[in-house]
Amino acid sequence: MTTAASPSLFAPSGNIAQLKESATIAASARAKALKAQGKPIIDLGVGEPDFDTPAFIRDAAKEALDKGATRYTANEGILPLREQIARHANARKSPDLADVMPNEIVVGAGTKQALFNACFCLFGAGDDVLIPTPAWTSYFEMVSLSRANPISVMGLPANNLLTDADTLMRAATRATKGLMLNSPCNPTAAVYDAGRFREILELAHERGWWVISDEIYRRLSYDFPAASALELAPSRDRLVVVDGVAKSYAMTGWRIGWVIAPREVAKAIASLQSHTTSNAATVSQHAALAALARDDLAEPAIDAMVAQFKVRRDACLALLADGPAPEVVHPAGAFYLFINVKGAATGPNGAGSAFAARLLDEHHVACVGGDAFGAPDYLRMSTAAPLKDVTEGLRRIIALWRAGTGRA
Ligand SMILES: Cc1ncc(COP(=O)(O)O)c(C=O)c1O
Repeated sequence: MTTAASPSLFAPSGNIAQLKESATIAASARAKALKAQGKPIIDLGVGEPDFDTPAFIRDAAKEALDKGATRYTANEGILPLREQIARHANARKSPDLADVMPNEIVVGAGTKQALFNACFCLFGAGDDVLIPTPAWTSYFEMVSLSRANPISVMGLPANNLLTDADTLMRAATRATKGLMLNSPCNPTAAVYDAGRFREILELAHERGWWVISDEIYRRLSYDFPAASALELAPSRDRLVVVDGVAKSYAMTGWRIGWVIAPREVAKAIASLQSHTTSNAATVSQHAALAALARDDLAEPAIDAMVAQFKVRRDACLALLADGPAPEVVHPAGAFYLFINVKGAATGPNGAGSAFAARLLDEHHVACVGGDAFGAPDYLRMSTAAPLKDVTEGLRRIIALWRAGTGRA
């Protein structure tokens, strides 16, 4: 006997009526499903280091569990972890800025939660928030969930799709309340040079905009060290720096991120978090504490991972230089290639999504279409995978691009 499907009782609330699923997570889920069916998928869709968390961090977590790190902690995170975060921040910050104090830090369940908390506490109805685009897909949703307006500001082709102070000034209105920055950038892998970054921070300071600087990829920079806003900003009065352990320490699953914000903002964020998730997982906080406290062990581990990412990046650049190939944003940091596939495929969501669909179905390589990042002509490929997968995946991309554009 079959029963007719009953009509859905669910009507999404106004809070999420416009919400779109994370395109990067959806792409990764589709690749995983195809893999589970036995298809030989090369997964270059995810933004996740393919390395194990360094052993000393895993050992510290086991030891913490054995010592009873199984209960709630302070909502804003354990003090020793916030002290270590402050130590790292103070080591790089400009001497002109006031020292970061532990009570200006709130630890949350990943950089994602930290960013959401910051947007939700700073922005609201009627506020415009400038988002230099291409940008990580979640910024648009986080700003919208805060009932503010995400204003996409397209980056400059001559500047690796990064923005600059003049462009932001032209995009701003009287309703502009904030600016999201992300260097090195997901999805483009571009990195701001210190001069341009400083000009943007100075403009924001003059205009009284809140800056949320997402520095999750700061350690992954190959041509020159990526600057932190803490090194360049004229003031910390309206500066919120967001960071975490996921990418540099290969700790994505531990879910630890944090905000460094003026005291009143940190208090508001802690208050919001006290009603949503409370403290980030206790054992993960102890793991992050070990990561940040043991520079002697962490720095060589990070250097080794960065060296691997650079080998892959350089191998990709060599492949792209070997015959006709699509144009890419120069990948100075993070672990992505942002590839212009305009003219190589067409579809309702732009060339990038159409190209990604063909690449997955016919060539078994998972990537993400650029429309998720506000750049529909592009395709994002992750280089956080073994070298042979990265190079084979890129070879197939180049071959499909050549076939699609007729460039032999
Ligand atoms: C730009 C950017 N910010 C934040 C995050 C989220 O990091 P976490 O895993 O710490 O939540 C990501 C993850 O992909 C990212 O690419």
